[in-house]
Amino acid sequence: MRKPFVAGNWKMNKTIAEGVTLARALAEGLSKDAKADVAVIPPFLAVPAVAQALKGTPVKVGAQDVFWEAQGAFTGEISAAMLQDAGATFVLCGHSERRHVIGEPDEIVRRKLDAALKAGLDAILCVGEKLDEREAGLTEKRLDIQVRSGLTGLAPSHLSRVTVAYEPVWAIGTGKTATTAQAQEAHLFIRKLVRGMFGAAAADDLRIQYGGSVTAQNAKELMGQPDVDGALVGGASLKPESFLGIIAGA
Ligand code: PGA
Repeated sequence: MRKPFVAGNWKMNKTIAEGVTLARALAEGLSKDAKADVAVIPPFLAVPAVAQALKGTPVKVGAQDVFWEAQGAFTGEISAAMLQDAGATFVLCGHSERRHVIGEPDEIVRRKLDAALKAGLDAILCVGEKLDEREAGLTEKRLDIQVRSGLTGLAPSHLSRVTVAYEPVWAIGTGKTATTAQAQEAHLFIRKLVRGMFGAAAADDLRIQYGGSVTAQNAKELMGQPDVDGALVGGASLKPESFLGIIAGA
């Protein structure tokens, strides 16, 4: 059985002090019998303090992005080793806002994923279609391109450290959640794709999170779908009550 994985992506929100307060509230409010793996993903600057605040708790800390080189003349960038040094154990690769606001193509996403895994970080590979692609019937084509580009040729030992997040771009931060049927359909498509690439065992073990306007109200139904193994949460992860409500739905 796949254990659900609920991660809160704070995006460009929270000062260091605010992040520590939120992390503490979360750890204190987390039920001992929570069924999910739980993580927070603060902005880079808050990672060390949040990791310190969460030491000894089951809540993991991730980072929102990573650069693919280990060190050198790359002004403004942060390496996987630096993230580990700061206390992160995983990183988001190819989040929708990196792809569509910053303009990261699939090749860059793959370089980041490889660098993270090679350095020993786990990774969440984010994929998802835009509204015009869904309306044109191109959802599966887009997912096929992004998943293949992200995962083709990965060693099994690396694949087992990857979570895929299906996040339809039109559902992120918009309050428009995919229906449970739309989410399940996309997740099943991704799992079948991975089965074709890596075999049944790897596909059965792969955790696929849903992301896009997940709330404490809709989380349980979404995560109740057979191929939805958790949630990648943006807005609703910024308050302990709503994020704990989502975790309770897992
Ligand atoms: P949202 O963001 O929950 O605010 O829609 C999700 C995400 O970007 O991961």
